Amino acid sequence: MNGPVPVEILRQHLIDPEICIRCNTCEETCPIDAITHDGTNYVVKAEVCNGCMACVPPCPTGAIDNWRNVLKADAYSIDEQYTWDELPTQSASVSAPVEAPLAQGAAATPVAEAPDVTVAGSDLVRGSTVPPWSAARPYVNLYTHKAPTTATVVGNYRLTDDATESDIHHIVLDFGAMPFPVLEGQSIGILPPGATPEGRAHHARQYSIASPRDGERPGYNNVSLTVKRVTRDHGGNETDGVCSNYLCDLKKGDTVTVIGPFGNTFLMPNHPNSHLLMICTGTGSAPMRAMTEYRRRRRLKGATGKLMLFFGARTQQELPYFGPLMNLPKDFIDTNLAFSRTPGQPKRYVQDVLRERAVDVAQLLKDGNTHIYVCGLKGMEDGVLQTLQEIAEKHALSWDALWERLKREGRLHLETY
Ligand code: FAD
Ligand code: A2P
Repeated sequence: MNGPVPVEILRQHLIDPEICIRCNTCEETCPIDAITHDGTNYVVKAEVCNGCMACVPPCPTGAIDNWRNVLKADAYSIDEQYTWDELPTQSASVSAPVEAPLAQGAAATPVAEAPDVTVAGSDLVRGSTVPPWSAARPYVNLYTHKAPTTATVVGNYRLTDDATESDIHHIVLDFGAMPFPVLEGQSIGILPPGATPEGRAHHARQYSIASPRDGERPGYNNVSLTVKRVTRDHGGNETDGVCSNYLCDLKKGDTVTVIGPFGNTFLMPNHPNSHLLMICTGTGSAPMRAMTEYRRRRRLKGATGKLMLFFGARTQQELPYFGPLMNLPKDFIDTNLAFSRTPGQPKRYVQDVLRERAVDVAQLLKDGNTHIYVCGLKGMEDGVLQTLQEIAEKHALSWDALWERLKREGRLHLETY
């Protein structure tokens, strides 16, 4: 006589398309390539995902943290997930405790629990998944796709020289009476108007906040962004980026639809003796500007915290905020610029300048108060981590141990796109 047919239940990992801001963080973080996307949705391959949770803490919105109990044989395929505008509800027949009978003649096997993986400080992720210990507590997801807010453009001007190809704008958005509390290092989502050729509303694009917590203009309920007009795709082919062109073309008085704020780890330490080692290219300077300005406004007498900045751009004329940056006192911030396309000069990347300042960088690496921030071009991330490793090892520091410690202690923050 045959016994009941065993039925396997899967705790299927899914991404909520209504909250997801398509920032690609999960796909990059997943150590086993279980996450992929099309032009619409980010999805999880049920047959590959092992529930390791590496992708969960870095997700800026929490869209990643969704699970449905399904019969393994009926797991949602990625093609099905691509068509979703919202997540399916939990099917009642498999949501009950697994001891409950599922179907006549069927025996349930327990839902597999996600393995207990300590993500922070593990090899699965390259940067911290926890904030610095002294960071202020951020608000996240106050405004969502379903309930966004509106901001008014109160400023929009070009930061880069008109004669250059790089068109980077400083845009100030005012929230009026709507509360929009932010911290340096956080980002917001912009919902561009219009729809894709397939008739779906455009998804939100994420932009780092370039102003400190008390506003671009102190005491005002506003934030600034640093937005680069995308005119070429990553392959160099001509294209008009939907949201960046929309933002760069906005006029004073226009309104924009905003969601967020996002981000609960890429935050600055609040203790006055903490050091900031900031490494960025192009618009990756936005969070560095926010942190630097916060420190400048709150410069405390006697505080020993240092600010060291490494900033890369094609030329001086294409480096956002060049003038204001040069006006900051040398005893307040140690600024190091790397230009890659200055006529008649050798190509220099931030990594090259880090090497030139290796002795001072090593000093900071040895100090438990140092917090490292890397933001900007995706391509620089590997190079910067390799250079930090080189510098550490030349100065008698074990990079593997230091890297683990930096990650675990919320002192290594990477945001590249
Ligand atoms: P899309 O219409 O989405 O894309 C058009 C084409 O260009 C596509 O082929 C796409 O693959 C390609 N493409 C997309 N982005 C780029 C790019 N940066 N360079 C070259 N090709 C690209 N951008 C800022 O300007 N300032 C910021 O402070 C900023 N912060 C960000 C923070 C985070 C965490 C993330 C994930 C992204 C951030 N971005 C920032 C990038 C921003 O979210 C958009 O991706 C970017 O503005 C392009 O959007 P788009 O709608 O104009 O282009
Ligand atoms: P490049 O002249 O090779 O493009 P962008 O203007 O595209 O936002 O880039 C900002 C700066 O980052 C440019 O100087 C660019 O140099 C530089 N860059 C490009 N690739 C890397 C990389 N892998 N590591 C560090 N910097 C890079």
